[in-house]
Amino acid sequence: MPKVHRQFSGSQLIIASHNQGKVREIGDLLRPYNVETTSAASLGLEEPEETGKTFTANAKLKAHLAAKMAKRPALADDSGLVVPALQGDPGIYSARWAGPEKDFDKAMQLVECRLGKSSDRNAYFVAALALCWPDGHSEIFTGRVYGTLVWPKRGTLGFGYDPMFLPQGGTKTFGEMEPGIKHSISHRSKAFAKLVLACFST
Ligand code: IMP
Repeated sequence: MPKVHRQFSGSQLIIASHNQGKVREIGDLLRPYNVETTSAASLGLEEPEETGKTFTANAKLKAHLAAKMAKRPALADDSGLVVPALQGDPGIYSARWAGPEKDFDKAMQLVECRLGKSSDRNAYFVAALALCWPDGHSEIFTGRVYGTLVWPKRGTLGFGYDPMFLPQGGTKTFGEMEPGIKHSISHRSKAFAKLVLACFST
């Protein structure tokens, strides 16, 4: 029996994130579905501590809290860069590697430094999306994009680790790519495609 997903039937969705880069990307991805997005930060909603051990657990935790507080459905994303040669780091700690000052130059340098002379420069971005309702129901979807890490980093577009991530088969890093092109192949867009198909179809 195929899984029956709960449909999102409203026109307003809370994006349970305080990261402006992500809120902007999610808003762009949902615009074609006539969904108006409001960020948790703009509603003054509290940001929970990300105590989960997986991307999925953290996405669920954030969306549940926002939905409960706002009494409306909320969508949260938890994402990060996984480097197998670093035993999966920075992984769920991708944001924390940039420190309180959110310095991703420093975070990318740390990745490069830990990789050292390793011949394995494979990496992938993961995105977990949790759409949660105030009654506690949740729908979870994940996406990945595979690539390799380049050094020196290239490009000034995007955010986070984009300048050092070269997607498989590409010549431009995410930091050199127009946002529309990145959206079409990113981990987040893959998770989104699954979410939209399951919960936003008419
Ligand atoms: P989160 O807010 O805990 O999900 O943190 C995710 C972190 O992973 C971000 O702050 C970025 O450092 C990194 N990240 C996730 N998605 C991307 C992306 O598309 N490009 C670059 N970095 C990303």
